Amino acid sequence: MNTRFLRNLEVSAIGYGCMGLSHGYGAVPERGESIRLIQKAFDMGCTFFDTAEAYGAGDNERLVGEAVKPFRNRIVLATKLHLNKKDGDTATLIRRHLEASMKRLHTDYVDLYYHHRIEDDDKVEEVAAVMGDLIKEGKIRGWGQSQASEEQVRRANAVTPLTAVQSEFSMMERRFEQDVIPACEELGIGFVPFSPLASGFLSGKYTKTQQYTGDDVRRVITRFAPENVERNRPLLDVLSDMAMRKGASMAQISLAWMLHKKKFIVPIPGMRKVERMEENLGAAEVTLTQEEYENLEAKLAEIPVYGNRTDEDIAKLRNI
Ligand SMILES: NC(=O)c1ccc[n+]([C@@H]2O[C@H](COP(=O)([O-])OP(=O)(O)OC[C@H]3O[C@@H](n4cnc5c(N)ncnc54)[C@H](OP(=O)(O)O)[C@@H]3O)[C@@H](O)[C@H]2O)c1
Repeated sequence: MNTRFLRNLEVSAIGYGCMGLSHGYGAVPERGESIRLIQKAFDMGCTFFDTAEAYGAGDNERLVGEAVKPFRNRIVLATKLHLNKKDGDTATLIRRHLEASMKRLHTDYVDLYYHHRIEDDDKVEEVAAVMGDLIKEGKIRGWGQSQASEEQVRRANAVTPLTAVQSEFSMMERRFEQDVIPACEELGIGFVPFSPLASGFLSGKYTKTQQYTGDDVRRVITRFAPENVERNRPLLDVLSDMAMRKGASMAQISLAWMLHKKKFIVPIPGMRKVERMEENLGAAEVTLTQEEYENLEAKLAEIPVYGNRTDEDIAKLRNI
């Protein structure tokens, strides 16, 4: 697969979001199958793997750590930490979280360490300074923020240059295009879209009668509500039309669209079936001409998206 740069880190143009193998989308594959999927992704040229301490309360890191062991030093391994406001000294805490993650990941360094959510805006600079120390010590190779505002990105980057910002971005969620993505471009920071297929919606394979069970977030994601599946049909029609003309799938067009946008954008779709992996990673080979891209943009600009932002919907889960 062709590669891109998140500041100094060279990664495959499309990474593997490993969360769904432990958390968030209902029933998970059997452990051995998940390991095979991660190793298959590497065989297909994927060198960028994304996990977090929060996914399955550490289980996802354990799984990813075990799976990538045979090729650990040939990939970019990203994980994330949460800092609870009340937990005390920032430096001690970050170091404690990192040590625990590294143990679960069977590694003595993390390539890209994200602050998963900025719970305390006052600590942006303090967190950035600790991350700078960890880079100097060789414990991490780079660091990032997730779902940060433009202001938080600029403040953090002024203390320790950010490697990447990871936030929700897809044809259905474009708010970061207004400020954060341009700031990343100006400051030389990579941008890693999570949920780049809008939790699979943009593949066009989900119907309004589909049932979601267990911890599947699509139970509360309003874009998947039956009436919104109907109302969002025009967006899928645009994708389907372009997919047909390009001999590609709708998911591939969605990913090719964001890859075309900027060279520093590296999406991390999630997938738990080999054929979906082949489809999604195969999107790195689907290129849009500038004319096709502009056509797509013009059409998308006219289509409203129905449903809330995913993080707004997921916040409701805490009350269920
Ligand atoms: N920083 C953060 O706060 C944050 C938040 C959310 C996610 N993330 C990271 O971002 C990664 C990606 O997010 P996501 O998993 O929401 O991404 P996504 O790719 O938009 O959605 C994944 C869902 O879409 C389905 N899907 C994927 N490709 C498909 C295809 N070609 N056809 C039909 N269905 C398809 C998957 O189904 P199957 O799994 O059944 O194949 C899965 O249910 C996560 O794994 C995680 O690492 C980060």
